[in-house]
Amino acid sequence: MGTARGFGVDVGGSGIKGCPVDIDGGVLAEERMRIPTPHPSTPEAVADAVAEIVEKFGWSGPVGVTLPCVVKQGTAHTAANIDKSWIGTDAQGLFAERLGQDRSEVVVLNDADAAGLAEMRSGAGAGASGLVVVLTFGTGIGSAMFVDGKLVPNTEFGHIEVDGHDAEKQAAASVKDDLDLSYPEWAPRVSRYVQALESFLWPDLIIAGGGVSKKQHKWLPLLETRTPIVPASLKNDAGIVGAAAAAAAGAGN
Ligand code: BGC
Repeated sequence: MGTARGFGVDVGGSGIKGCPVDIDGGVLAEERMRIPTPHPSTPEAVADAVAEIVEKFGWSGPVGVTLPCVVKQGTAHTAANIDKSWIGTDAQGLFAERLGQDRSEVVVLNDADAAGLAEMRSGAGAGASGLVVVLTFGTGIGSAMFVDGKLVPNTEFGHIEVDGHDAEKQAAASVKDDLDLSYPEWAPRVSRYVQALESFLWPDLIIAGGGVSKKQHKWLPLLETRTPIVPASLKNDAGIVGAAAAAAAGAGN
């Protein structure tokens, strides 16, 4: 096992988390730091939090940052669960400037894509071929799609329409919390969502992630789906690990 290190920061709806990562091992190299997501979660406020985390560890070198947004060539294009002023923001340029780093040292990617990359490298999807979909259940629903191990970025399957509604508004983990649903009450919503996804995608494997995957035994066995579903194994650290790996590989530039 090598000792190459990278740095990942995961920007979520409730917290911003980051730390150095053991790239070869695919695990956190130190205890992560978490800052509550600022409100409003404007690009400037989030960039300050990201810089605070990176500086806390005295890190200089490539940094990967996730956003809950469609991200293409470093620019954010959507903002479902983060301040709308992210739309059209050159996130890569903003973070690079705030961190005092060269643009090429900073990689910005969708949060679910980052989590998916980590699960496929060193987690529940390691070695999986065919069509694999990683779903993250949190404030929203994130998705990452892999075809024979290769990421098809920015899939946004959390926003497919299910029974006339935006899927994540029905089945995200935050809906469970907001409506105070038990796992047996929430699970049918997830089943309905996955069934809708399956009807046009026919995946070979689904990996269920997000904070709620820590309690997977309470709800995964209740799902009624055609596709085998396994829990993510990196849990809440997957975004950090995937972001660091993407930055170390220089992907996304
Ligand atoms: C966003 C996605 C994001 C997901 C998880 C969705 O609302 O549109 O880009 O991956 O939430 O944070």
